[in-house]
Amino acid sequence: MSFLKKVLFVIMGLSLSGCLAPVNIFNTASPIAAAESRLFQIILVMSLVVFLIVDGGLVFILIRNRSRGDDQTPPRQVYENRLLEAIWTGIPILIVVVLFILTVATMRAVAAPVRSANDVVVNVVGHRWWWEFDYPGLGIKTANELHMPVGTNVHLDLTSVDVIHSFWPPQLSGKFDAIPGQTNTMWLTSDVVGEYPGQCAEFCGLQHAHMGFTVVVESKEDFLAWASAQQQAAAQPEEALAQQGQKLVTEGICAGCHAIEGTNAKGMNGPNLTHLYSRKIIAGGAAPLTEENLAAWLRDSEAMKPGNLMANVRVQEQHLPAILAYLRTLK
Ligand code: CUA
Repeated sequence: MSFLKKVLFVIMGLSLSGCLAPVNIFNTASPIAAAESRLFQIILVMSLVVFLIVDGGLVFILIRNRSRGDDQTPPRQVYENRLLEAIWTGIPILIVVVLFILTVATMRAVAAPVRSANDVVVNVVGHRWWWEFDYPGLGIKTANELHMPVGTNVHLDLTSVDVIHSFWPPQLSGKFDAIPGQTNTMWLTSDVVGEYPGQCAEFCGLQHAHMGFTVVVESKEDFLAWASAQQQAAAQPEEALAQQGQKLVTEGICAGCHAIEGTNAKGMNGPNLTHLYSRKIIAGGAAPLTEENLAAWLRDSEAMKPGNLMANVRVQEQHLPAILAYLRTLK
């Protein structure tokens, strides 16, 4: 990494410090993000050169023409110098033309290809404050973790159920708004297996900073294995405690907002919990998925994520072990 990139990385890191994990926008994992990042770096270098020439010239002139003792003679005045005027008109025009050409070329390079039968389509729905990922072709609904096969075109149809959000996985693509009552489309493709953090990039209220997600780019085999596991209905718990928990969850207040396939829980407002434990984060990335965090969330989610829609639901301590035992079975 060059020095310039390191400096920029620190600036970006500071300005994105509300995120799931530090993101280096220059460490791209997709031809889309790579093309956008390249354009950004070219513009940055051009701006730097202009800045150095203009401000360097200014400083030079200020020093050269500084007041020297009692000598009050004004410096030589320059008027109507055709050559100078042509230069400072011509260069900016040239810069704008070059930027225009590079921008159009980049737009063409990152334009979404026509959808084909082998592509993956995902409906992405922004909620305050988490992301719903619905694969209509595969019958999978999940939250906060977008899985995609490497080297495949993935088309996203973005919308929102409440306010305007913005879907941004920096290492894979630029930002696209998720707007209520409207469907925006974008596409992703990645040639590097890995996990890439993403973040809501449009201020959407109290927990905007905790509206993160992860994009998991995996081999085609791993993706198919993940998809077939996600397509299964939730397994019936065998342990008595977990069975008790299942009753509490699927017949209680939880079912009003959460769905668990294969049970009576069919709520739509909250994340689908059928395979909760296949995910690594909860609450839009507010915390990693661990039993302690889940317990803390169920006891008092308001403390973990003030303003969240589940804040007025507090699981009683005596019900907690059974509910946690059941949730553990949702792999
Ligand atoms: Cu959603 Cu910011």
